[in-house]
Order: sequence, then structure tokens, then C-alpha cells
Amino acid sequence: MNKQELAAIAKAMVAPGKGLLAMDESNRTCNKRFEDVGIAPTEENRRAYRELILTTPGLGTAISGAILYDETIHQAKKDGTSFSKLLTNAGIIPGIKVDTGAKDLAGRPGEKVTEGLDGLRDRLAAYYKLGARFAKWRAVIKIGEGIPSHGCIEANAHALARYAALCQEGGLVPIVEPEVLMDGDHTIETCYETTEQVLHIVFNQLYAQGVAFELMILKPNMVMATVTCLLQTVPAAVRGVAFLSGGQSCALASAHLNAMNAKYSSQLPWPLTFSYARAIQQPALQLWHGLPANVKVAQDALLYRAKCNRAAREGKYSEKMEVAEPALVAAEGLHSHLGSQD
Ligand code: 13P
Repeated sequence: MNKQELAAIAKAMVAPGKGLLAMDESNRTCNKRFEDVGIAPTEENRRAYRELILTTPGLGTAISGAILYDETIHQAKKDGTSFSKLLTNAGIIPGIKVDTGAKDLAGRPGEKVTEGLDGLRDRLAAYYKLGARFAKWRAVIKIGEGIPSHGCIEANAHALARYAALCQEGGLVPIVEPEVLMDGDHTIETCYETTEQVLHIVFNQLYAQGVAFELMILKPNMVMATVTCLLQTVPAAVRGVAFLSGGQSCALASAHLNAMNAKYSSQLPWPLTFSYARAIQQPALQLWHGLPANVKVAQDALLYRAKCNRAAREGKYSEKMEVAEPALVAAEGLHSHLGSQD
């Protein structure tokens, strides 16, 4: 592990005024999102859509790093420039999702465990060669009747910790994402308690596996009193907190991040930023429709959301920013119905 290199990457990922763009939807999730808006689920459309995102002029002014999917990191722009190179040229750090998805947990109906540890050391080395400097692993915790079980939380936390240790060994900064899903009819108190419990167990496991907190980024869900929950559970050494949007509307995801930064940022040990997928991409996806003629308007929508979140990262976002762009607000109205990714 080159600690200095890892420290520099982790610092850059949560640099002031910047956040992460999650564009690591699996082919299945990406195809589903395409079908929801009438785009054919083909490999070329996935490539063209990712090219649209990665060639958005000015994206690097608000985005520090982009999380790619295995298919995407092997793809290239029409002119042959690899997506990884395109990102580096734009001043954006390439990252890669390395888990292989949440699978049914044996003996625990309704619960999942995220897989992907087998062969991970070699896969990380290959991704590093392709330009990736950070990675992501997402654990999924569902709240329901009698769940999550301790066994499910512990299995997921253990896998997250083994993944994070391998990343640091291999020169990639791990994003540790234990997502407590907001879907369901549980109360906000239950969501808080579950998130608190999950984060405690995750950090215990990270400690047990020797993960350096200052060389990792936490990617949590938001809860009702997010900052209180994080202060109770997240070590001060953690380099940064980059939230997932979790199905919130674009405007709400910006407003919530903004509220936390406006009120608390000077009192917190870690920067709070974004690592959104749906809450940055969705208006662009809807405006694109798979048509080359719509690329410009879709890129404008993407950059607009990135800028709203850049403002929220600084506590300077205001709802007026939404009113200023009514076409984009209308385009995002549909997106809160979309399911989370795998
Ligand atoms: P959302 O912002 O759409 O929740 O996705 C973030 C993510 O990367 C989930 O793993």
C-alpha cells in the first residue's frame, strides 16, 4: 500500500465544492432504467449514454470522481479514447464498482449479502492498470418484519471490511457503502436505529480487518437526523462522507445535503458530499431518449444537477436554483419512482 498516494486520492475525492458521480449501474439496472424511459437496452446505447455523461463539458468543475461499471471501464468514446482516459483528461478520478451484486443470504428469507470477494485481489490489480484509483462495494440492508437480522448485518459488514482491506492493499481508495434501504412502511425512528446499528457493526469489522479509516470514504444513506447518527458511529479519522441519493428526488437530495452542510459543516470532523446516481443522472437520461440530437440538452441537465450538488456541498444551494430551470425540474419529476441499483 502506498499510503501517500491513497491519501492524496481520498482527499481529492472529497475536495471542496466537489462530489462523486455514481454511474456504475449494472447492465441489468441500466437496461431497466433505459426501458423505463423508452430507450432500447443495447450495449451500444449503454456505451453512447456513458459517452454522453463523460464528455459533458465542465463536468470536472463539480465532480471529483466517477464510479464506473466493469463493462464501462472497458469501453471507449467513438474516437477510441478509453472512458478511463477521458475522465483523467477531464480532471476526474476513475473509480470502479467491484462487488458482484447482492444475493439471497442462505437461511435468511428476504435478506441479501453482497458477493464479489473471490478473486478480488486480481480484479483490483487489473482495474488499477485500467486507471481506476478508487472502488465501491455496496451492501444492501432491508428493513421489514423481523429484519434485518444481526447475521445479515454482520455478513455484509465483514464482506465490506475484507473488500476495503484488499482495496487499500492494492492502491485503491475504498468507498464503503452500507445502504439501509428507505423502501418500506417502517418509521423514521426505525431507519435511524437500523442505520446506527449497521454503522457500528461496519466500523467494528473495518477495525478488525485493519482498514485505515483515513484512507477510505463512507457512502451512507441519509436518515432523519443524519448528522447525529453519523457523529454517534463514524470515527473522526474517516476521510469523507459521500451520500447516496437512495430514491430521493433530485431537488430533495440537493436540499438535504445542503441543509447538513449549511448547519453543521464547520463542526464536523469529515466533509459531507454526494455520490449520487439517480439524483444526478435522471433528468439527463429522460431528456436524451437515446437520440444524438438530444445529447447537448441532456448534458446541460447533467451539469446542472452536478452544479446544484456542488452548491449543496458548500451549503450554498437554494430552491431558487430549481425554479430557474423549469424544464429540468419537470424532467426530474418522474424519477423518484425508480428502484435502486444492483
Ligand atoms: P443512488 O444515488 O441512485 O441511490 O445510487 C447511488 C449508488 O451508487 C448506489 O450504489
